[in-house]
Amino acid sequence: MAHLAPVAPCDVVVFGGTGDLAMRKLLPALYHRDCDMAITPDSRVIAVSRAGLDDSGYRDKVDSELRRFVPEAAGEVNARARFLRRLHHITVDVEEHGTWDGLRALLADEQERVRVFYLACAPQLFGPICVGLRDNGLVTAHSRVVLEKPIGHDLDSACRINDEVGAVFAEEQIFRIDHYLGKETVQNLLVLRFANSLLEPLWNSGSIDHVQITVAEAIGVGGRGGYYDSSGALRDMVQNHLLQLLCLVAMEPPTRLDREAVRDEKLKVLKALRPVTSGDVGRCVVRGQYTAGLVEGAPVPSYRDEVDGAASTTETFAALKVEVANWRWSGVPFYLRTGKRLDRHASEIVVQFRPVPHSIFPGIEDTITPNRLVLRLQPDEGVRLHLMAKEPGPGGVRLRPVHLNLSFAETFKARLPDAYERLLMDVVRGNPTLFMRRDEVEAAWTWVEPILAASAEPPRRYAAGTAGPAAAIALIERDGRTWHEEVTA
Ligand code: BG6
Repeated sequence: MAHLAPVAPCDVVVFGGTGDLAMRKLLPALYHRDCDMAITPDSRVIAVSRAGLDDSGYRDKVDSELRRFVPEAAGEVNARARFLRRLHHITVDVEEHGTWDGLRALLADEQERVRVFYLACAPQLFGPICVGLRDNGLVTAHSRVVLEKPIGHDLDSACRINDEVGAVFAEEQIFRIDHYLGKETVQNLLVLRFANSLLEPLWNSGSIDHVQITVAEAIGVGGRGGYYDSSGALRDMVQNHLLQLLCLVAMEPPTRLDREAVRDEKLKVLKALRPVTSGDVGRCVVRGQYTAGLVEGAPVPSYRDEVDGAASTTETFAALKVEVANWRWSGVPFYLRTGKRLDRHASEIVVQFRPVPHSIFPGIEDTITPNRLVLRLQPDEGVRLHLMAKEPGPGGVRLRPVHLNLSFAETFKARLPDAYERLLMDVVRGNPTLFMRRDEVEAAWTWVEPILAASAEPPRRYAAGTAGPAAAIALIERDGRTWHEEVTA
């Protein structure tokens, strides 16, 4: 990784500083940026929670979690010690007015430096935390607030949260994170589309037959059952990550890579999504829930057993057929699917081109498969272009599908940073291009809400360790198409 100039000195204050997200993602991301010298020596990470830890207790906890989530950190004794020295822990009960003194005192001497308040906690606390920050005089001109998803449960609650946070912070200080936008391949999608002249002339209904976006997970809901059971795949993944990916595929070229231009174009896509009416839901949406099964050879319980909810109708899988009703994409379906406890862990965007209009190869027309561009988000990040080629040898022409493979790991021979690394540094830099603007979040909820309202049927069952409910296969096969199932890089 290139050693870039460090960002401005900062205090990163993490509400939910002892939680799962902080341990699994935020602290490892900050650790990596520290190792790359992207953080100035005097910058601090201040964890806020109700855990009653002192600094040394917190450092011990992070030390062991870091070795777990960043195995190479175990051997990097000096780097780890330097990082741990940045850490502080303050106990605050955010809903108790009298408990903010410690945080106020810690921040008091550093009025001028960038302050990042990272709200890695339940969304119902976003409003009270912002009010607490304001009432304790902690919001400075250089402050920014980061909101983790989910931003609300529906349009109403999202608007309420946006109003509450907006009463304390100006929109340009609010960073609504969708970590999919920080993934390397996702950023590369912008480069692939707009730094090459090859694709853009073909990027429309004239050449593209359909697009597939798959985010498949082998994991279950783990310890997040409480949150997940009131959320489900449509709220947890589709409303944000999958729609954001769709926006980047479908948007018009922004005039420049800048905060408003990119977000303006994404918003236009969200507004162009054809509404799914209650009459369409049966045809365009499949919800599923996993039953017990085998994942990677090991038996796993059903979702209902995992969340202890015998009657839960929360979906752990969703597949949708989506249309972008505009000139460029008219008649090009976007098939989205995501699920937990599937047969693989793989996320990809597949752009399927149209068949050749006429074959000059008599008798072997059937062997010509249409071109396909696969952007692999994880694992094995990269881009693969499926083409037809002639098999070598005399004795006539035989065609074979082959692919050009760009593996980021092999080509760039560098560690691929986690999405949070890039996004956290963007917050300190004050660059919100890869964050969601208020109107985007609300437009996404506006589109998803009728689907949620019309999804009264219980979800279809699928065994853990499979590709999801059969109805999801039927959803695409009805249109004479199939899901892209290639697993290997
Ligand atoms: C989160 C969801 O936003 O994204 C999780 O809440 C999901 O349910 C996760 O597992 C997937 O992220 P990634 O980066 O592992 O694909």
